[in-house]
Amino acid sequence: MITVGVAGAGSIGAGLIRLLHTSPAARNLRLKTVLVRDAAKQRPELPAGTPLTVCPAELTDDPQIDVVVELLGGVDEPFGIVSRALSQGKAVVTANKNLLAERGPEIFALAAERRLPLGYEASVCAGMPIIRTLQEALRVDRITALEGIVNGTSNYLLTRMSEERASYAQCLADAQRLGLAEPDPAYDVSGQDAACKAGILATLAFGAYVDCHRIPTSGIGSIALEDVHQAEAMGYRIKLVAALGRPASGRVAAEVAAVLLPRHHPLASIRMECNAVRIESEGLGETLLAGRGAGPEPTSVSLLADLLDIAEGRARIPTAEHPFIASVADFEDRQAVASRYYLRLAVADRPGTLAQVAGFFASQGISLASVLQPEVPDLAGSSLVPLILTTHTTDRRRLDLVLATLAAAGWGRSVVLRIREH
Ligand SMILES: NC(=O)c1ccc[n+]([C@@H]2O[C@H](COP(=O)([O-])OP(=O)(O)OC[C@H]3O[C@@H](n4cnc5c(N)ncnc54)[C@H](OP(=O)(O)O)[C@@H]3O)[C@@H](O)[C@H]2O)c1
Repeated sequence: MITVGVAGAGSIGAGLIRLLHTSPAARNLRLKTVLVRDAAKQRPELPAGTPLTVCPAELTDDPQIDVVVELLGGVDEPFGIVSRALSQGKAVVTANKNLLAERGPEIFALAAERRLPLGYEASVCAGMPIIRTLQEALRVDRITALEGIVNGTSNYLLTRMSEERASYAQCLADAQRLGLAEPDPAYDVSGQDAACKAGILATLAFGAYVDCHRIPTSGIGSIALEDVHQAEAMGYRIKLVAALGRPASGRVAAEVAAVLLPRHHPLASIRMECNAVRIESEGLGETLLAGRGAGPEPTSVSLLADLLDIAEGRARIPTAEHPFIASVADFEDRQAVASRYYLRLAVADRPGTLAQVAGFFASQGISLASVLQPEVPDLAGSSLVPLILTTHTTDRRRLDLVLATLAAAGWGRSVVLRIREH
């Protein structure tokens, strides 16, 4: 029997507390204390009699509690609770990607020093066992690349825009109404949530700490229905993808961005709020994991599995070789990575514009693969019209020079997306 303290009784905390009460697998786990901010709040979602406290020390310093489960969200307060719990000799389980992405090296170092288990399966893709797969199943294989759809909200928006021809604003409002998006959805749609998860996955896949703030990140906020439709007409689907690679240089190539994926790509068929991660490794080849990447039920299943590993003595205890501690990853210069691009520009509506734009690209040696100037019935007072282009393979540095020239001409870049060939 092990005794558990849970910090947080929000959406995920309440889900775990219910599972601890109902799951036969939890019979050897005893819930002692639950930390909340407001003890007076009505909590009909919790089993009657759930023992609440507003004092963190009642978890971290209680000698009867063996494991603290951190489910608060944020970074500073969770860091205080997790580091205190570890320093008091308690094992920790957390679902907090922000905490691990930002303070992971310190927390894993403390767990290693105190020889205590630290479970964090639920921190990336909720119920999908991606952490176990990287740490256990693939631990003897060399991972060369990993790419994933790791933000369910963005994938929900892009799927509905594609399948129902619903506008971005409409889909976002629905996602918020259904509780899929945060009240402030900027964190999801800007790519920051995905970058945080990408930092954790890249760290585990490539064996050195990847700072999520160094991952070039862009979101889906500028993508319009016309981009989704145009991509489809060309045989692609637009997805927000965390793309991580380990080229021959040994450095890490990382990016979180919306990209055009060929329709037959394994990630192109991942719909709505589902998550998926595709791993390439030298021995196994290609591995694909897909599943529910958010929500109390799948997240609680991962948390309970981590708790059972600790209770049954099977949990991994970090050592000094743990990827979060061992070293810090160097980044590849992504400007040099060759790719095709999709661009929607806003250019002047006058004769000669097309030739002028083509000239800008030609001056940087970039060859255009297609050019489309959709008819716009009503310019709504704007003197600029959309121009949709695709390029042949180029590097980003040269493309950026063209975009700077366009900007100097007073023209806009609405969308710039990589096109994946396979
Ligand atoms: N939502 C998902 O699908 C999902 C999936 C995987 C991982 N996660 C992660 O799980 C964690 C929890 O998410 P959530 O959606 O459950 O959050 P939430 O609904 O906002 O709940 C947060 C809980 O923590 C308590 N809390 C916050 N700050 C506190 C403080 N300073 N002192 C004491 N209690 C405090 C709150 O107390 P009150 O109830 O009194 O306000 C609340 O019970 C986050 O790290 C999140 O990233 C979420």
